[in-house]
Amino acid sequence: MHNIRKAIIPAAGLGTRMLPLTKVVPKELLPLATKPIIQHIVEEISEAGFEEVILVTNPNKFPLAKHFSRDIEIERKVLKNSTNSFLKDLGQLSNMKIKISNAIQHKALGLGHAILCSKKFIKNEPFAVVLPDMVIDSNKKNSNLALMKKKFEASGNSSLLLDVAKKSEVSKYGIVKVKKLKDSLNSFYIEGIIEKPKPEDAPSKLFAAGRYIFNNEIFKFLLKERPDSQGEIQLTGAISNYVKENPLMGFSLNGKIHDCGNKENYLLANLEFSRKDKNLNKILKKYFR
Ligand code: G1P
Repeated sequence: MHNIRKAIIPAAGLGTRMLPLTKVVPKELLPLATKPIIQHIVEEISEAGFEEVILVTNPNKFPLAKHFSRDIEIERKVLKNSTNSFLKDLGQLSNMKIKISNAIQHKALGLGHAILCSKKFIKNEPFAVVLPDMVIDSNKKNSNLALMKKKFEASGNSSLLLDVAKKSEVSKYGIVKVKKLKDSLNSFYIEGIIEKPKPEDAPSKLFAAGRYIFNNEIFKFLLKERPDSQGEIQLTGAISNYVKENPLMGFSLNGKIHDCGNKENYLLANLEFSRKDKNLNKILKKYFR
């Protein structure tokens, strides 16, 4: 049994595609229906059975970790005396059992570098990486992440969550080359990965969809990774060397993914998540009528 307890959330980015919304407010604290995006993400991790989240932020994004610290004054004033159903999200937050640690990435040197910044919290354990831009709408109790965790604990094999990109969008993501597993419609062996290829160079339309599980061996490859032309250390580079020596599985996404890193998708994600909330759905229906 390969027990996995920790998950990294790389959240040090400047949110430039969301400006001016994100000039002061971290994009992960923007609302998605009744809760900030980061709360949806941490709940997904907590419900999948992880024990600790390592939030990687830049020094200005301290409110992210603060969102998860208890505020006795708010709890005393609001939670005890109110019956407002919107407050259940706040109650859920106060009762969350997961430990939140904060690693600092001082410079925006890429996703691979953000993961390296959490190494002192991960030590020699396996871990998940959960990208907070990618919000997944799926079965809460049996999420993609929970399934990936179970598979890792049974096999010890690292894995990525995969979804299908439109041809015009392959240059936004890490695109994988896969071999299908026998007898399985939704599991693959990953043979390679290319970061943001031109459509004509893409080995498939399957992209890394923001949920990863790694055994500790990945650090060996991250430490060897050199900065790219933008000066960033990319996770994709480390993965493409990792697969030359280690098995890496890919699992198809179950549910729908919202890339909340741009304003258009963020707006649509808000509408879809709001429609799933009983109270907000009533309000929306009345408004659009
Ligand atoms: C990152 C990864 C990419 C992945 C994407 C998913 O890119 O480098 O491989 O497909 O997240 O959102 P970014 O969105 O940070 O440019």
